Amino acid sequence: MKHKTAFFCKICGTEHSKWQGQCKSCKAWNSLVERNIQKNEVKKWTLDSKIAPNKSIQIEKIEINDESRIITSDKEFNRVMGGGITRGSLTLLGGEPGVGKSTLLLQVVLSSEYKSLYVSGEESLKQIKLRANRINITNTNCFILNETHLNNLFTEIKEIKPDFVVIDSIQTLKIENIDSPAGTISQIRQVTSELIDYAKKTNTPVILVGHITKDGQIAGPKILEHMVDTVLNFEGDKDHIYRILRSQKNRFGTIDEIGIYEMGSKGIQPVSNPNKLLINSDNNNLSGQTISVTMKGVRPILLEIQSLVSSAVYGTPQRSCTGFNSKRLNMLLAVLEKKVGFTLASKDVFINFTGGISINDPALDLGVIVSILSSYFDKSVKKDMCFSAEVDLSGKLRPISKIDSRIKEAAKLGFKCIFISKNNKVDSVFKDIDVISAEKIEDVVSILFG
Ligand code: TYD
Ligand code: MG
Repeated sequence: MKHKTAFFCKICGTEHSKWQGQCKSCKAWNSLVERNIQKNEVKKWTLDSKIAPNKSIQIEKIEINDESRIITSDKEFNRVMGGGITRGSLTLLGGEPGVGKSTLLLQVVLSSEYKSLYVSGEESLKQIKLRANRINITNTNCFILNETHLNNLFTEIKEIKPDFVVIDSIQTLKIENIDSPAGTISQIRQVTSELIDYAKKTNTPVILVGHITKDGQIAGPKILEHMVDTVLNFEGDKDHIYRILRSQKNRFGTIDEIGIYEMGSKGIQPVSNPNKLLINSDNNNLSGQTISVTMKGVRPILLEIQSLVSSAVYGTPQRSCTGFNSKRLNMLLAVLEKKVGFTLASKDVFINFTGGISINDPALDLGVIVSILSSYFDKSVKKDMCFSAEVDLSGKLRPISKIDSRIKEAAKLGFKCIFISKNNKVDSVFKDIDVISAEKIEDVVSILFG
């Protein structure tokens, strides 16, 4: 048989018939590689041999019923997905090896009442069964398949007719007729496009697991992220027990929501009240610790910030942030020096968010500054105080969004006092918590450190 070849861009996966120095699509240089292809022999997913042409329809007449989403019993997962798994959608779940992607998805299929098919190209059936035993849920509606060939997978799907399919992982699936190993750009691209075809034509959602490369990108062409409807990331330090499910793209919901989980000996448990985990429960008042009220989607979260300010041992002082943006820290330190008069240029400054969570919310600014000053003066801040305001370059406190729900959550958790910006309009009246409005950082400093 005669082998045809084509050139594929290593970065975006675009196919070119001839070699050229620059990719015509993403304009990257020297990114084309040659691969054998055998066009026209790739079997397409089709339910019938005849493909009926689609008809256009008035937008008013398109029906959406409640059945359009599959609600799983994992509330955190449903919320991050925008209220369940949308039928006919393709979701990509990325994460570092060992973070718990397979465990999370096995748990989703096991605890669901829908008929599910979990396809693994990575683990044997026995390994999966052992994991299921650990999670300790039995479900006769959950089918497990060990398969790496897409056409065989489709044959099985036609027989089982699952309500949703999980594929662990996209990098292990291959179409035989493409002459390159599983996991290569052309395979991933083709397999994904076949799966999209299957998902849309049968209205069956498919969840794909995707590996992450060393620099944190989902392995495979970037185009994969464009092709799917939803991209989720499962994050967390392997040494911490907490895991965070974050959505990076979602055609069916917001990308603000996060799901928090705890990895235990019996699988992954959703954490419905994250405040317990993000705040140290011991009652000692230590210097350098403050509580900030931040938002994740519609949910306020109270977060403990720890700072350590110490004299720099080496010439250049160190700045280190876990969870907080280090550029933002440098900005806040500059504001402290220029506008408030605290020179920390010869000090090492370390910032840490409890629980290993990383959050980007300007409302954390005030809490970070107070925690730095608390460590600097070695004077603790009362445990029943919390902070929520953005700090601008002139040292003024700026208003933040959803202030009412932040204050309400702080009051609910027993905080007695919250510092916010003077310009933040509060609509509700709070009895159990003092709302202190301040204009500048200096005002907060003089109240707290005198
Ligand atoms: P896994 O789901 O295999 O990760 P991934 O698919 O992202 O590579 O999870 C692997 C880790 O999770 C492994 O180190 C063992 C741990 N684990 C638990 O702590 N508890 C459990 O109940 C299970 C099933 C796994
Ligand atoms: Mg896995």
